[in-house]
Amino acid sequence: MPSATPEPTPRIVLGVAGGIAAYKAVEVLRRLRDAGYHVAPILTPDATRFVAPLTFTALASEPARVGLYDDPNLPIPHTKLGQSADLIVVAPATAHLIARFAAGLADDLLTATLMASASPVLLCPAMHTEMWEQPVVQENLATLRRRGVLVLEPERGHLAGGDEGAGRLADPATIVALVQRIVEGYRGPLTGRRVLVTAGGTREPIDPVRVITNRSSGRQGHAIAEVAARLGAAVTLVTTTVRPLALDVQRRIDVVPVVTAAELRDRVLARASESDVIVMAAAVADFTVAPAPNKLKKAAGPPKLSLVATPDILVELTGARRDGQVIVGFAAESTDVLANAQSKFERKGADLLVVNDVTTPGAGFESRTNEVVLLLRDHDPVTVSMRTKEDVALEVLTRVVALLPQGDQ
Ligand code: CTP
Repeated sequence: MPSATPEPTPRIVLGVAGGIAAYKAVEVLRRLRDAGYHVAPILTPDATRFVAPLTFTALASEPARVGLYDDPNLPIPHTKLGQSADLIVVAPATAHLIARFAAGLADDLLTATLMASASPVLLCPAMHTEMWEQPVVQENLATLRRRGVLVLEPERGHLAGGDEGAGRLADPATIVALVQRIVEGYRGPLTGRRVLVTAGGTREPIDPVRVITNRSSGRQGHAIAEVAARLGAAVTLVTTTVRPLALDVQRRIDVVPVVTAAELRDRVLARASESDVIVMAAAVADFTVAPAPNKLKKAAGPPKLSLVATPDILVELTGARRDGQVIVGFAAESTDVLANAQSKFERKGADLLVVNDVTTPGAGFESRTNEVVLLLRDHDPVTVSMRTKEDVALEVLTRVVALLPQGDQ
């Protein structure tokens, strides 16, 4: 039997900016090497005031670099380093480095490499609390996050000069564990499967100012998307709520923002046939209204809203289900919970219905925890006692895995 081609060693560029936490980058480097990565360090000129390039050279896979013009044999080091990296980690990322990166400056080897790369970037900021809390630093980070840069927030703790507060570089072990998950991804029971998840409450405009909506926070749907990604799936999340996804799965979830039930239906139906699993966790408006073009004025008295029923997307999906596809619905109930949910289960044709009693304290809308009952075909209802929405997501997805046909991914 021919032997399998060994996986190439992942290449990490470790950027080190000029802050006192630069000494901890040595530990990050050592741990990255221990984890088996090829590591190319780049120090900014200011970083060399805190740590010597020689220290990094001694531990790394290739010599530490500082200047754009230092190596006569390598006239364009930034493109070589940037193009070949599987990931660029900057630890520590100072306020100045963050500002230069956000502004698109490329005035040293590290920023030029960041600019010359399409690889994922993980910034690990470290600075004094006052700097960390500066609006300009947070705005620069928000800009970078919007562009897909991952930011591992600093911790609280002792800072240089005896101060205490937020701004301490994340622990090197945490940084390296995150690097491993980003570079190596996840393999699990959903590897090779496409999972489509909806989340949040739709908003139906009444006029340019007002909407009809509901109290769904989108937390349970987001948790399902994150856990599915950790189980190996390629995930699309169609959501009305934009909330930060966990750093380790951000690049594995395609987020599709929507507002109305019609938009959500559109995006879901466009992706339905390619999905192995569809989880309708969104609270979709049952009724919409033709919006007035201009703001309805109070003086005109109470408006008469003429509500129109929206199509039931879940019913449409189960009606067009392809072989082997698993479709999960949710049920939000407040009275006769199980009886109402059972008839919803029959009516909607889902393979699994996740039933929420929205009157239970600590469960349902806006809460971080949830308590649900799972309805399955040919199976007694399964009670999932109060736990985090991530743990509920794992329970739901474990049942989904069992329903998927095996061996065809
Ligand atoms: N759903 C849907 N399309 C709609 C309404 C709901 O796909 N227009 C889906 C939801 O995403 C959820 C399930 O149907 O997965 C049940 O939603 P729920 O609000 O509990 O039920 P309704 O159909 O609205 O029924 P009722 O209002 O009678 O409880």
